[in-house]
Amino acid sequence: MGIKVTKAKRSRIGSVDFDNLGFGEHFSDHMLSMEYAGGAWSAPEIVPYGKLSVHPALCSFHYGQLIFEGLKAYRRPDGLALFRPRQNFERLNRSAARLCMPPVDVDTVLEGLVRLVRLDRKWVPRKEGQSLYIRPFMFGSSNFLGVRASDAYRLLIITSPVGAFYKAGFNPVKLCTPGGYIRAAPGGLGEAKTAANYAASLLPAEEAKRRGFHQVLWLDARKNRYIEESGAMNVMFLIGDELVTAPLDGTILPGITRESVMEIARSWGIKVSERPFTIDEVFAASKGGTLREAFGTGTAAVISPIGEIAHGDARIVINGGRTGPLAQRLYDEITGIQYGTRPDRFGWVMRI
Ligand code: PLP
Ligand code: COI
Repeated sequence: MGIKVTKAKRSRIGSVDFDNLGFGEHFSDHMLSMEYAGGAWSAPEIVPYGKLSVHPALCSFHYGQLIFEGLKAYRRPDGLALFRPRQNFERLNRSAARLCMPPVDVDTVLEGLVRLVRLDRKWVPRKEGQSLYIRPFMFGSSNFLGVRASDAYRLLIITSPVGAFYKAGFNPVKLCTPGGYIRAAPGGLGEAKTAANYAASLLPAEEAKRRGFHQVLWLDARKNRYIEESGAMNVMFLIGDELVTAPLDGTILPGITRESVMEIARSWGIKVSERPFTIDEVFAASKGGTLREAFGTGTAAVISPIGEIAHGDARIVINGGRTGPLAQRLYDEITGIQYGTRPDRFGWVMRI
């Protein structure tokens, strides 16, 4: 396939302090762009990273037709690799369907992405725990104020060298339930990776931070009891010998890390249950001494141990506020697969 490549005149890489990357603060020299018009997508084009010129009546500014993805490229002893990238573009297409947007051809976009990462390979950082975060996103690009789906769309992929997502690094995070706010209701947008879900999360997350927590632990919209997920990660609890996580019922993001962690845990003989479970069950298990560990899973968050949860006036500390052995073992295994220091026994890695 013909991918047109226009190279940046000069690289900006010299201006980046790779010892202090943060998360999503620097952007590599190039980006991928595709346009949808007249019922078809253009071929991917790689162009210098730069500003977009858009009309103030851009429909997605007004009505939020905007979806995105998040995956990473890893630097390994044997070269560069992506982790289950096809899953991200298949999820992008499911988000697209929910938001009335056109699907992309997964192979075409993936081929474009591989070209982009190869071109910007110097931007894939080298230090432990670092990676090149890849952000594909798509938005309605027609200009009008009527409330309807756009006719034209733009897909862009930008990349950013990153370190740890949480300032806590691999240290346990503290979560609190959001005191009445909800993220997604049945039939809503919860399982789509769309901007609106993150917009809904900002105020509760701000309030949580003001109270000294890293993120919100979302409860279901109907009963305000069932645990769903956190701001940027799915959540799992080790209760007795059962690893429990919320089912995919339409209100949470079907995390790729979630699915991978469940598969790894099952391969170790751990009982994994995707079932509804409540905040009361977790607090009772804590009181009864059977709540052994809790952690979040996500591309950006990797495995993030959860050391403390507050719900109303009640608080529990999990595993003494320390990283538990299962979280550590899962972290070592999944990052080992991603960074090529452990065998890719599930065939998840795409070397590029
Ligand atoms: N839940 C939410 C709300 C997220 O933003 C993310 C991050 O993408 C996840 C869960 C984890 O998904 P994944 O493991 O595919 O990155
Ligand atoms: C991810 O893990 O890819 C995310 O999307 C998390 C966040 C940066 C929104």
